[in-house]
Amino acid sequence: MTNSAPPRRVVVTGATGKLGRAVVAHLRAVGVDVLAVDRAGGRDPRDVDGEFLLADLTDYGQVVEAFTGGVDEHADGVEAIVHLAAVPAPGLRSNATTFANNSAATYNVFAAARAAGIKRVVWASSETVLGLPFDTPPPYAPVDEEYAPRPESTYSLNKALEEEMARHFCRWDPELVMVGLRFSNVMDVEDYAPFPSFDADPQARRWNLWGYIDARDGAQAVERALVHDRPGADVFIIANADTVMTRSSASLMAEVYPGVEIRKELGEHETLLSIDKARRMLGYEPRHSWRDHVHPVQRAAW
Ligand SMILES: NC(=O)c1ccc[n+]([C@@H]2O[C@H](COP(=O)([O-])OP(=O)(O)OC[C@H]3O[C@@H](n4cnc5c(N)ncnc54)[C@H](O)[C@@H]3O)[C@@H](O)[C@H]2O)c1
Repeated sequence: MTNSAPPRRVVVTGATGKLGRAVVAHLRAVGVDVLAVDRAGGRDPRDVDGEFLLADLTDYGQVVEAFTGGVDEHADGVEAIVHLAAVPAPGLRSNATTFANNSAATYNVFAAARAAGIKRVVWASSETVLGLPFDTPPPYAPVDEEYAPRPESTYSLNKALEEEMARHFCRWDPELVMVGLRFSNVMDVEDYAPFPSFDADPQARRWNLWGYIDARDGAQAVERALVHDRPGADVFIIANADTVMTRSSASLMAEVYPGVEIRKELGEHETLLSIDKARRMLGYEPRHSWRDHVHPVQRAAW
């Protein structure tokens, strides 16, 4: 693992979204100058507190202006892009709308970064490319980055195409560093209260192998990815170290996916979305767990 110096000024897209809010707050807290960009919100400090630009990323001109300091009142000198803006899941909008928005936004972000000479792009891919909702069982567990994407929805297809697109942008520019973070299901602390109820039905959250990512750990992964200095495109699964369940990971796999090969000795609650590569290559280490937020009495009562 080698690191470059952290970028001084960064654009974060999707800045008023669930993950974006945590990322902007975290990067600002560690001293990064952030231009927060989104097509929604921004006036309310609960959305984003600080420099903000309202822009629709499906319009290339708006992206170029944001990245080059062309917008009045905003500084130039952007050194890296964190691209989180998207319709964030299948089924929220029509398939064609999801594809049109997400593919255009990401192409424009990648292309405008190239046009602006920005050499560092971190973007949100998704755990979905691993084969969610796993109606077809995973090839082995814990799942990792070693098998080809298996998108099962239009949303996921677009994320898989973004990963492919990043590889070509990096082929065109040997100095470019592009890091795709395959986030698990993003959670804020307020989301943890119902977690103990998940235990009643092992099928209920098998769709992502019982994984999750605390938004604050997601933000830490972005910070780590921003200092990754190996040119080329690479992808990393970003999840928490444990599952959403109280039952053991081994017992869940044995019950729900009995035919799937388990490739390692599993810790009691060990994630089945492997974060070994992110640990090894990015220095990512989750600091949070839902278990720290749900009161033990409450847990016992569920
Ligand atoms: N939420 C999850 O569980 C999850 C899991 C894996 C990956 N992801 C990915 O992480 C990223 C962030 O997700 P989130 O949960 O914060 O979603 P979110 O919906 O809370 O935030 C996404 C933001 O993107 C903005 N946006 C969408 N299209 C835009 C456009 N054309 N121009 C400008 N802004 C636009 C929205 O206004 C919104 O504020 C997304 O790329 C999503 O696909 C999310």
